[in-house]
Amino acid sequence: MTLYAASTQRTIGLVLAIVVAIGFAVYVLINIRAGRKEIGSEIELAPNRKRYFEDEILETRRLDIALTAGLAMLIIIALCLPLYWLGEPGRQDGFENLTGNQFASRGSEIYEEQCTRCHGAGGVGGEADYTILDDQGRYITAVNWTAPALNTILYRFSEEEVTHILNYGRPQSPMPAWGGPGGGPLTTQQLEYIVGYLIEIQLTPEQMASEVQEGLRESVLKEVRDVDPGATDSELVELYNTLFDGLGDAYLHDLEIKQNPEADVEEIEEAEEDLQHLLDDYLVDLAEKNAAKYGEYLFNNPAAAGSYACARCHTAGSSWNADDRLASNSDLVGLINPEIPGSGGFGPSLIGVISQFTLAQDQAEFISTGCEPNLQYGLNGVCEPSGQMPGFGVNATDLEGSVLTQDQISAIVEYERGL
Ligand code: HEC
Ligand code: HEC
Repeated sequence: MTLYAASTQRTIGLVLAIVVAIGFAVYVLINIRAGRKEIGSEIELAPNRKRYFEDEILETRRLDIALTAGLAMLIIIALCLPLYWLGEPGRQDGFENLTGNQFASRGSEIYEEQCTRCHGAGGVGGEADYTILDDQGRYITAVNWTAPALNTILYRFSEEEVTHILNYGRPQSPMPAWGGPGGGPLTTQQLEYIVGYLIEIQLTPEQMASEVQEGLRESVLKEVRDVDPGATDSELVELYNTLFDGLGDAYLHDLEIKQNPEADVEEIEEAEEDLQHLLDDYLVDLAEKNAAKYGEYLFNNPAAAGSYACARCHTAGSSWNADDRLASNSDLVGLINPEIPGSGGFGPSLIGVISQFTLAQDQAEFISTGCEPNLQYGLNGVCEPSGQMPGFGVNATDLEGSVLTQDQISAIVEYERGL
């Protein structure tokens, strides 16, 4: 609509410009023709020596023509100015769209070159190679460190906060500094392009909610599996059935359909949906009966390479699965620490967080908004000037929608207060 306004305006302008150009050309042509005659007869034809109109004509016909022309000019100006002004907002929007698109497309190129290998194509999340060293800088082990999805980042951090992260990177993590202030290779302009691209790829609130839910389902299934990694399929089915009525049967059905070469797409989808519905029912039930456990799943949510989770910043080692590494390689025992839930990593330890926030309500409020530079919170908390604790609620940034619902945040608080 606004673009249309701008282009109508452009057409009118173009027509006017063509009329003026043609008029000017005609004027020049006539002048040249008239000028030719003059050659050699300047004296006879010099304008100041020619006899002009009589007063009678000058004061009637000539005057009328001049006045009418003046009036016509006035009308044209009076009409065109408002018309031009009417199109102005459209032009403004068109310009902003154009520059926004240019930012995003330039940012997309830089992103592909510099970020995709860790954060995945389109910012869906990925992994980074990293080497764990001891205090003396000696090699301990090589790990894969999850690089969170960036297609939800602007729901958690403001554009300024994202720019800060890009400038300085994340200390003690594979995320390098990219901007001049942190000693990185990219210019301020290039960082702006990247942020422009990130704006373009943000998910909708519905898409976020469904990713969060998918991560929770995965967590439920995995937790039961982890109880006994050697369990057979039928033992697993038994365990799932014990957890929630019918869950094991749905799991088995899904498994069988997927292994059956004759099953068609519809049957597979149906079996998958049945399993999802049961898991969703279980999670609704859990949220009601055991909010702290539901909160624990949310705290550790593996979806989108941890971008919905708290553990990656508040539980050391969770980004590279320290526990799994320890379980699979006994040589590492004593060299790396097991994951201690909420023990602190990039963010502070949350063990005993109850003394920071006497009221659960205040804690939920803080998690919802996250840090703003130098914000004071709780008993004696003060945010870093860069505001690095993300916000997970509706009031975290200017974007509409939120990473987690109010109920989910309350459940996390319930879990945290038990740490
Ligand atoms: C070598 C791998 C690697 C590359 C290349 C890389 N990142 Fe990262 N980035 C990471 C990791 C790992 C993290 C998470 C660090 C942590 O666990 O605290 C991260 C974190 C971030 C965060 C903070 C996310 C959050 O929710 O906390 C942003 C924003 C980010 N990266 C943007 C970028 C952009 C933009 C580029 C390209 C210019 C880029 N990264 C290139 C590995 C990388
Ligand atoms: C990107 C890393 C990051 C993620 C993810 C993160 N936090 Fe934080 N959090 C921080 C940092 C950093 C601070 C310290 C605030 C500061 O100094 O800026 C903090 C502070 C806190 C505090 C205050 C602790 C105190 O005693 O001062 C609480 C509570 C908290 N986070 C809860 C959470 C919850 C719940 C989640 C998940 C929903 C979460 N955080 C996700 C980085 C993170």
